[in-house]
Amino acid sequence: MDLYEYQARDMFEKHGVPVLPGIVAETPAEAKAAAEQLGGGTVVVKAQVKTGGRGKAGGVKLAHSPAEAEAAAEAILGMDIKGHTVHRVMIAAGAKIAEEYYFSVLLDRAERRYLAMCSVEGGMEIEQLAVERPEALARVAIDPLVGIDAPQARDIVEAAGFPANLKEAVAEALIKLWSVYEEEDATLVEVNPLVLTEDGEIIALDGKVTLDENAAFRHADHEALEDKAAADPLEAKAKALDLNYVKLDGAVGIIGNGAGLVMSTLDVVAYAGEAHGGVKPANFLDIGGGASAAVMANGLDVILNDPQVKSVFVNVFGGITSCIEVANGIVGALETLGDAATKPLVVRLDGNSVEEGREILAAANHPLVTIVETMDGAAAKAAELANA
Ligand SMILES: Nc1ncnc2c1ncn2[C@@H]1O[C@H](COP(=O)(O)OP(=O)(O)OP(=O)(O)O)[C@@H](O)[C@H]1O
Ligand SMILES: [Mg+2]
Repeated sequence: MDLYEYQARDMFEKHGVPVLPGIVAETPAEAKAAAEQLGGGTVVVKAQVKTGGRGKAGGVKLAHSPAEAEAAAEAILGMDIKGHTVHRVMIAAGAKIAEEYYFSVLLDRAERRYLAMCSVEGGMEIEQLAVERPEALARVAIDPLVGIDAPQARDIVEAAGFPANLKEAVAEALIKLWSVYEEEDATLVEVNPLVLTEDGEIIALDGKVTLDENAAFRHADHEALEDKAAADPLEAKAKALDLNYVKLDGAVGIIGNGAGLVMSTLDVVAYAGEAHGGVKPANFLDIGGGASAAVMANGLDVILNDPQVKSVFVNVFGGITSCIEVANGIVGALETLGDAATKPLVVRLDGNSVEEGREILAAANHPLVTIVETMDGAAAKAAELANA
């Protein structure tokens, strides 16, 4: 789960990372009041969207008075930044910036470690810097069992080339940022820019945090950070039903068991779709191993409620999940839906109890269900029906 900047700011503050005051506002009037509350001086009005490049898109504006903050909020609220509509801004105290630096720590899956990246040339051009002058971006592997302790922080600061008089203060900030990463079970903590102010202070002026949802059970407070209003309603419903579902753009709904099988089902449907008007998969849905009839029915319920779905491909290889359960789930779901079920289903079953599963479907003899024996054949049939 990605956090908004203001949530990252709050989290930083809780862990002792130096940040400036910030107040969230949803209307220009609230923005003006927030600027007054911050003392009436210079503030920065910042779009709160979960994407990068806000500054370049005009989503970060300097305001020298509460009236200017109100006008800036007026301009930023409702703005579209890379497909994200701005519903909130943060009014942040203005910093007198002397230098902008970069720091991040993230999960490096390939190396099975964490990776810290740091540069004395931070700011909005960091992506360009990483491509054009990679040597200016220090990359330091972090042992997960050690983390960023004092010696490690000194190594990072050294590798990034900070001047001697700043090393201590920057290292201290990195250790605090590491405590955010470790204690909150994050997979990314990024600060761009980490700044040196004209008063010689080191402050995190921006924050991106991604939390590991697999660790949510350890953090009762993380659920409140979720932006339920922004979530896709189908994804929210699937999550409430504990389904592994991802909404996509196409017209062929997909249900399978096992992430690998579902991924390859997406591929064969996209391929088969080329011959049928370019139809594409509408979603990823893995009902998992050992899925019951109820889980199958829940999955169908989510997919059939997607208005973009024109046909559904159920692709199950019975392992732990018996095809009997799958077939009963399909029949039960169709019974529950009754006349509301209007979309054709193509079912391909194989593996554990396949004969019994097919018999259950054949006996139900539902007009919307087509049984196809091969995966490629079923994908072609589902694509054809979606394009009909
Ligand atoms: N509180 C602040 N006071 C003064 N200047 C600020 C403040 N916050 C941001 N800035 C300036 O605005 C620039 C852009 O801000 P920020 O890094 O938050 O957004 P961004 O980098 O454009 O967005 P993103 O990180 O989403 O790509 C910063 O590099 C900094 O120069
Ligand atoms: Mg930034």
